[in-house]
Amino acid sequence: MALKTAKIITFTSVKGGTGKTTTVLNIAGLLNKKNLKILIADFDFYGGVIASSLNLEYKNDVYTFVNDLMNNKFETVDDYVTSFTDNIDILPAPRDPRSASKINAKYIEIILNRLKPKYDIILIDTNHIATPINLITMDMSDNFYYIITNTLADLKNMKSMVSIFKDMNEEDYRIVLNNSIMNIKTIYSDYDIKNMIKTEINFTIPKSLYEKNIEKYIYDGKIITMNSSSKYEAYENIINDFLKN
Ligand SMILES: Nc1ncnc2c1ncn2[C@@H]1O[C@H](COP(=O)(O)OP(=O)(O)O)[C@@H](O)[C@H]1O
Ligand SMILES: [Mg+2]
Repeated sequence: MALKTAKIITFTSVKGGTGKTTTVLNIAGLLNKKNLKILIADFDFYGGVIASSLNLEYKNDVYTFVNDLMNNKFETVDDYVTSFTDNIDILPAPRDPRSASKINAKYIEIILNRLKPKYDIILIDTNHIATPINLITMDMSDNFYYIITNTLADLKNMKSMVSIFKDMNEEDYRIVLNNSIMNIKTIYSDYDIKNMIKTEINFTIPKSLYEKNIEKYIYDGKIITMNSSSKYEAYENIINDFLKN
C-alpha cells in the first residue's frame, strides 16, 4: 500500500464566531462517506470545542502530544488521536487551556509531519487570531479557507488580510461567505463585498443551510451532515476544490 500524505486543509477567519467549527464538522461528515481517512485537528488551542461538540471521550490531546514529543515519551501518533467513526479521527485541543500557552509554535510542523502519513485529509479548525501557531498552520496548509460573514467588521478585516496576501504573493487562500448563521443579516451584495475586500468570494454557504436544531446536534454529539439528507452543494464545492489538486 502506498504511503498516504495528507492534504492539510485549514479553516480560519478574521473575526470570531463566523462558523469555522460548524463548517469543519459538516465537511468532515460529508468526507466520511467517501472512504477517505480524515483527521480533524482542533487548533483552537484556547477554546476548542470539536471534542465536546462530538461528546468525544479521549485521553490525549494536542498538548499531551507535544509534551510527550518534548520529553521523548512519544511512540506513535495512534496514542494521541481518538476515533469518532471508522474514517474520522480527532486530535482534540488542549483539555486544559492553561497548557495551550506552553505549546511552542515550532511543534506545529513536527506534529503535522507525524500525522500526514496516516491520513488522506487533515482538516484543521483554528481560531481567528493571527498567532504564530495559526500562521505556521496556514503556511503548512495546501489550501486555507477564510470563513467570513456579511458584517462590516469581517469585511474590513478581510480587506486588510487580502492586501497582506497580495504583498506576500500568497495565493493558497479561498474566501467563503457564510450566510447560514441566521442572526447575521445580509447587508451587502456580493458585488459590494467584492469591491470592499478587493477579491472574489470563492464559495457561499447559503442561508438555507441555517440549522435551527444545531444545539440538539451538539447535545447529542452528532455531525449535521451525517444525520440529515439535505443537499450540501456549498460544502461539496469546497470539498471538490481541495480534492482536485
Ligand atoms: N449553519 C448554522 N445554523 C445554525 N447555527 C449556526 C450555523 N453555523 C454556525 N452556527 C452557530 O453560530 C455560532 C458560531 O459558529 P461556530 O461554528 O462555532 O463558529 P467559529 O468556529 O467560527 O467560532 C455557534 O453558536 C453555532 O452553533
Ligand atoms: Mg470554532
